[in-house]
Amino acid sequence: MNRRNFLKTSMAIAATATVSGAGHVFASSPTSGLIYSAQDEGKWQGKNGSHAPVIHVNGNEVHIITKHGMSEKHYIVRHTLVGADGIVLGAQTFSPTDQPTSTYTLPAGYKGKLTATSFCNIHDFWITETNI
Ligand SMILES: [Fe+2]
Repeated sequence: MNRRNFLKTSMAIAATATVSGAGHVFASSPTSGLIYSAQDEGKWQGKNGSHAPVIHVNGNEVHIITKHGMSEKHYIVRHTLVGADGIVLGAQTFSPTDQPTSTYTLPAGYKGKLTATSFCNIHDFWITETNI
């Protein structure tokens, strides 16, 4: 195969991979199968009630709760609170003897999207979003 044919063939393969990748790898959204939520439980059907973090906002305080049991073998590892534009506003790492609740103070006057994340050592990474 000469250089010109090699380049043509390579470009055709790359174009095919790009088009088919859009349809097969990301069936519903780019995060499907990586990040779970009440709206997208993916392979963890029926688990959102015990894994999607619940957000309570009280003034400039945000409480995150995951309604999940805690044991050595199965527990919530970490919460984070992420603001608009991906700014991490706080994080809490848990041990199996902790309760999966965390509290954060928002910057003064904060308005906009908040994303709570909760990671289970068995059932992966879950998010809940809200706007304030
Ligand atoms: Fe779990």
